Formats: sequence, C-alpha cells, structure tokens
Amino acid sequence: MSKKVNFSSIISGTMTWGEWGKNYSTKEMASLIEHCVSIGVSTFDHADIYGDYSNEAEFGAAFKESGIERESIELISKCGISRVCDRRNYMVHHYNYTKEYIINSVKQSLQNLQTDYLDVLLLHRPSPLMNPYEISEAITYLKNKEMIRSFGVSNFTPSQLSMIDKQLKVEINQIEISLTKYDSMYNGQLDQCIEKKILPMSWSPLGTAMNKENPKLTMTLERLAKKYSLEVSQILIAWLVKHPAGIIPVVGTTQKDRISQALEASKVDLELEDWFDLLEATRGHQIE
Ligand SMILES: NC(=O)c1ccc[n+]([C@@H]2O[C@H](COP(=O)([O-])OP(=O)(O)OC[C@H]3O[C@@H](n4cnc5c(N)ncnc54)[C@H](OP(=O)(O)O)[C@@H]3O)[C@@H](O)[C@H]2O)c1
Repeated sequence: MSKKVNFSSIISGTMTWGEWGKNYSTKEMASLIEHCVSIGVSTFDHADIYGDYSNEAEFGAAFKESGIERESIELISKCGISRVCDRRNYMVHHYNYTKEYIINSVKQSLQNLQTDYLDVLLLHRPSPLMNPYEISEAITYLKNKEMIRSFGVSNFTPSQLSMIDKQLKVEINQIEISLTKYDSMYNGQLDQCIEKKILPMSWSPLGTAMNKENPKLTMTLERLAKKYSLEVSQILIAWLVKHPAGIIPVVGTTQKDRISQALEASKVDLELEDWFDLLEATRGHQIE
C-alpha cells in the first residue's frame, strides 16, 4: 500500500541546479532549498540522470547542510534512462526497466540523496521493451522495503499507463504540459488522470512562451499579465492550474523570487474567457 504523499502546490525541479545549468555550490543549493521550504514549496523533483548522474548527490549534501528535517520535504526521483556520459560505460542511450536495474537505481538514488526513502519513484520514459509484470515485482519489492512511498510514470501515453496500471496502481504521470504544449488536453492523457485519479505533474510548465515566438500569444499574455497584475510567467502557471485534473507544475527556475512567484500564481483563478483567450492565442484560431 502506498503512503499518502502531500505535495506542495508547486514542485521545484532541480534539473538545472548543478552540472546541467547553474553549477550551484553546496551552500547555494542549501540556501535555495531553505527558501523553497520557508515559502511552502516542499516537493523537489529529481532524476538519477540529472547532471549526468551528479545532481542527486549534490542536492543530498546541500539538504544535509540545511539541517531541514527529512519528513518536512517530499523527494521525487526517476529511473530507467541509461545515459551515455563520462560517468557510465554505456555505448548507446537506452532504457532499462529490468527488476534488478530499477531496484539498484533506487538504492543509488537513496544513497546520493542521503535518505532512507523516496516519496515518489517515476519511470522516466516509456520503453518499447518494458515488461509490466517485471516492473510490478520491482516496485512491490521497493514498497515492501519502504524505499519508496508511491509510484508513478512520466511521459506515458494512456495505453502505456493502463498496461502498467493493470498490474499495480500508477499514482502520477509527469508529462510536458504548457500553453505551448497542450496536446495532453486532447490526447486522453489528462482525461485518464481524472478518470483513474492519477495526479498529473507538468514539466516545462512555461513551454516556449517566454521566447516570444508567437506575437499573438505574447500580446495576449502581456495584456492579461497587466489585467491580473502578474508576471507573464505567472499567467502561464495560472493557466495550467485551472485544469480540473489538478495539474501540479514542476518549475525549473533556479531563482528564489521566481519560485515565490510561481507559488503565488498557483493560487490565481483565471476567468473562463481569459483561459480560452490564451488557448485561442496559442492555437492561432478560435475553438470550433
Ligand atoms: N519527466 C521528464 O521527462 C522531465 C523533462 C524535463 C524536465 N523535467 C522536470 O521539470 C523541471 C522543469 O523543467 P523546465 O526547466 O523545462 O521548466 P520551466 O519552469 O518551464 O523552465 C524554467 C526555465 O525558464 C527560465 N525562465 C526564464 N524566465 C523565467 C521566469 N520569469 N520565471 C521562471 N523561469 C524563467 C528559467 O531560468 P532561471 O533558472 O534562470 O530562472 C529556467 O531555465 C525540471 O527541473 C525537471 O525537474 C522533467
């Protein structure tokens, strides 16, 4: 049985805190963790591969330095991508969802993060070779050993998710959702989340809107930002959280003030017509 995990309304994504981005020192990471926790952003998103397998350990050291109690945060991590890089001997990028690989990957994540359990383990990306029976055995083992508290997937289509869910309850699907990547609203992924009571988390919640590639979208975002006295990035978050599936944005910013802004935005209720105004702007035409 999974333990109930209480996620914060915004999740802090750590992908670019280290080697893949800002290269923060232990002290800087600790300070960012402290800021997040102080404002109520207590959930942190990881993957074994971030920073070419270096990020979890850096976060673990910073978390220890912060002195914050383990039970006051939630840690998400992922496994399954075997990434060619200096720290691994792989010849080819591939996926691995054998029982042994999943269990060992979690053990390594726990060691890196200096913790006894993950609040969530996600299968990072669907593999054509994944075997739901073998995955189920691995997850059941990890739950029985209290190494993970809940289980989910990431980037899974509805049929891939159903195949796993038939063997063991899938509690989360972490997918790319934003105002510029909203196909999950039409391809059944979010419908399935509502139907099966699966929690959707959106990665890259700002999409490409901040690049101002679509003039109509930029104009609409700026007009609404003015109307609600918010930043454009906050309108993008508010647009996501209005969806009835209860999407939790996984924000990638490494800046304290931007994390605070995202949290504020998660409390904003956009008017219905404003929501569709944004949809129309991103699609480039009215809804039929
Ligand atoms: N499951 C998966 O397959 C998957 C894939 C990709 C990512 N993820 C997770 O999702 C997280 C978020 O992904 P993402 O980084 O693509 O998300 P994002 O929140 O859409 O983008 C964050 C990026 O936008 C920049 N940014 C520019 N202006 C900003 C503003 N006003 N407010 C906030 N950010 C602004 C940030 O830079 P600054 O840092 O300088 O603010 C950062 O580089 C990752 O950290 C990771 O945990 C999961």
